[in-house]
Amino acid sequence: MKLSFLSFLIGTAVAGPLGSFRVFEQLSEAPEPWTLKSGTQIDGDQSLKLWIHLKNRNIESFHQKVFDVSTPDHPDYGRHLSRVELRDMLAPSQQSYDMVAEWLKENGLSHKATIENDWVIIDGTIGDATELLQAEYQVFENKANGKVTARTLAYSLPNALHDHIDMVAPTIKFSTTSAMRSTIVKNYPTPDIVKSSSGNVHNGLDTVSCNSSITPDCLKALYNFKEFRASRRNGNQFILAGFLEEYAQHDDIAKFLSAYAPSANGSDFSTILINNGSNLQDSVSGPQNHGEANLDIQYGLSLSYPTPTIYTSTGGRPPETTSVEVDNEPYLQFLTYLLTLETIPQTISISYGDAEPTVPLSYANTVCNLFAQVAARGSSVMVSSGDDGSGSNCSVSNSSKLLYGSEFPSGCPFVTSVGATVQVTPEVAVDFSGGGFSNYFARPSYQDAAVNTWLTNYSDPAFTKYINISGRAYPDVSAQGVNFITIEDGAVVPESGTSASCPAFASVIALLNSDRISNGLAPFGLLNPWLYSKAASAKAFNDIVAGKSAGCTTQIPGAGFAATVGWDPVTGLGTPDFKKLRLVSTGLS
Ligand SMILES: *[C@@H]1O[C@H](CO)[C@@H](O)[C@H](O)[C@H]1NC(C)=O
Ligand SMILES: *[C@@H]1O[C@H](CO)[C@@H](O)[C@H](O)[C@H]1NC(C)=O
Ligand SMILES: *[C@@H]1O[C@H](CO)[C@@H](O)[C@H](O)[C@H]1NC(C)=O
Ligand SMILES: *[C@@H]1O[C@H](CO)[C@@H](O)[C@H](O)[C@H]1NC(C)=O
Ligand SMILES: *[C@@H]1O[C@H](CO)[C@@H](O)[C@H](O)[C@H]1NC(C)=O
Ligand SMILES: *[C@@H]1O[C@H](CO)[C@@H](O)[C@H](O)[C@H]1NC(C)=O
Ligand SMILES: *[C@@H]1O[C@H](CO)[C@@H](O)[C@H](O)[C@H]1NC(C)=O
Repeated sequence: MKLSFLSFLIGTAVAGPLGSFRVFEQLSEAPEPWTLKSGTQIDGDQSLKLWIHLKNRNIESFHQKVFDVSTPDHPDYGRHLSRVELRDMLAPSQQSYDMVAEWLKENGLSHKATIENDWVIIDGTIGDATELLQAEYQVFENKANGKVTARTLAYSLPNALHDHIDMVAPTIKFSTTSAMRSTIVKNYPTPDIVKSSSGNVHNGLDTVSCNSSITPDCLKALYNFKEFRASRRNGNQFILAGFLEEYAQHDDIAKFLSAYAPSANGSDFSTILINNGSNLQDSVSGPQNHGEANLDIQYGLSLSYPTPTIYTSTGGRPPETTSVEVDNEPYLQFLTYLLTLETIPQTISISYGDAEPTVPLSYANTVCNLFAQVAARGSSVMVSSGDDGSGSNCSVSNSSKLLYGSEFPSGCPFVTSVGATVQVTPEVAVDFSGGGFSNYFARPSYQDAAVNTWLTNYSDPAFTKYINISGRAYPDVSAQGVNFITIEDGAVVPESGTSASCPAFASVIALLNSDRISNGLAPFGLLNPWLYSKAASAKAFNDIVAGKSAGCTTQIPGAGFAATVGWDPVTGLGTPDFKKLRLVSTGLS
């Protein structure tokens, strides 16, 4: 899909000047945990790939289109768009390309530019970006891990380009993305992994061992999909997305399947490397960071077996050997890659996220629009709701008001956000389960009834002043999230977090998508309108009504959300009951 910029242009350069420069985006300071590393010199010759996103045409009618094709009973339900239809609808105007071409020509950068979808990508240097954007790149340090990066706190564009460009990266977006593995596990000590006696097994569920640690058998019994067998060859595929140099290990999954999912023994995942990502194995490279990757792929594969599962590893860094890394933004590359495919795998699980206030609004909007495009193509994207309950630090929101925290991309209305539960007798909300209200994205109509019922009947009025009730509320659903048994470097390691909940819930959706495809139906695409209407009215979830989230209780004593009847901002609509969901989806049982 990469086109040479020069050959793409039809040649009519815009006459006249582009106007003087005006600040396009700026921050007052770097978001936590980044700080300016003063006195460190930037090398202007260091390479930097600048991504410029041109404004899409028809973006509002496009959003409506995504809701239409995802809303049961709408005449267009299930009529997802092809790659070409989507391009025809959204491609930026020729005028936008021409004006950007003129700007690059004035700066002598035309020969370094290529076009990929809506992006103009310049393979340049920090010096090029500094001049082009009238920016001041500086060195910043991440206090949490000592990493350094080059970013600017402000950049400018010629006046005439302000209406044609959404964002330029890397500029003011600091990498704060992390894997959603909980650090608040102190309340859930590592269990003794013992097989309890058969007297504890009820309807296939071991109520003693599954109450404290989770295996694939626990989830299959608890969520009612022990007997369902998906097709291996109906075209259905399941992606577990990886970022941040997380590498999924083949020898670990072999051991995991043999021990915990013997019916899938001997099967394996395939790998897609995006943006020069890698998936190094210990045998070649020594131990890598792979707790998240192993958790995602071990549960995704064993639960959805024999659905073909794919681990995608998106690289985020150019091959610099200098001390300052100008890392890219892996979401942009991952989603742009997916959109180049003729068929996008129908189910995608992403266990990574950022605190919303650390993400610039322009970046959040651009990425959310890419999620909307993936949904329009017929793919269901699940994301972790975060591991900070109602917020890790309620004073970082960029407003004068003290507000509960919010997460990205959970706040994007085109993804399905998954919170966490614990224990099985009964299943309850876990304190770290992320949930709340976006300050960036407005509440989509598909969740109006559910959220209004919560607000009028179940929310605690003493705390509603800390939430933005007009915002998109999350999570949408939830699944177990504590002490998932994994194999890491050959050893048994329990993992917790909405990182675990996300692949668990997504696996159920991968099976439902498989069932739909085998029965001649379109895959779900954007799930939420169906979840909040058909699935909720059929009571196809286990409603979680006990437990409470915690978060930023030092700033707001008593902060958090309680799980209640129906939707709530800690467990969403509840955890999945596969048999009931299947009956609503295809009418089969
Ligand atoms: C917060 O918002 C103000 C005004 O909207 C803006 O000027 C400032 O740069 C923002 N700060 C951050 C950290 O985003
Ligand atoms: C499940 O765990 C909870 C919390 O530790 C405990 O109160 C309950 O008795 C346990 N149930 C079973 C069947 O072990
Ligand atoms: C799984 O397969 C491996 C070899 O392919 C074998 O050594 C192992 O015993 C098998 N495990 C089970 C539970 O069948
Ligand atoms: C890809 O990564 C490898 C090592 O990780 C590096 O040697 C190579 O130069 C990179 N290629 C590109 C095009 O970035
Ligand atoms: C919360 O964020 C504010 C503003 O960035 C910062 O000053 C404060 O130290 C943070 N508190 C904690 C507990 O991280
Ligand atoms: C509340 O959310 C809306 C989006 O629905 C947003 O426009 C507004 O800025 C948010 N308010 C605050 C205080 O962040
Ligand atoms: C909750 O609120 C809705 C209106 O949003 C109302 O119709 C309903 O009767 C209330 N009570 C319960 C128990 O849901």
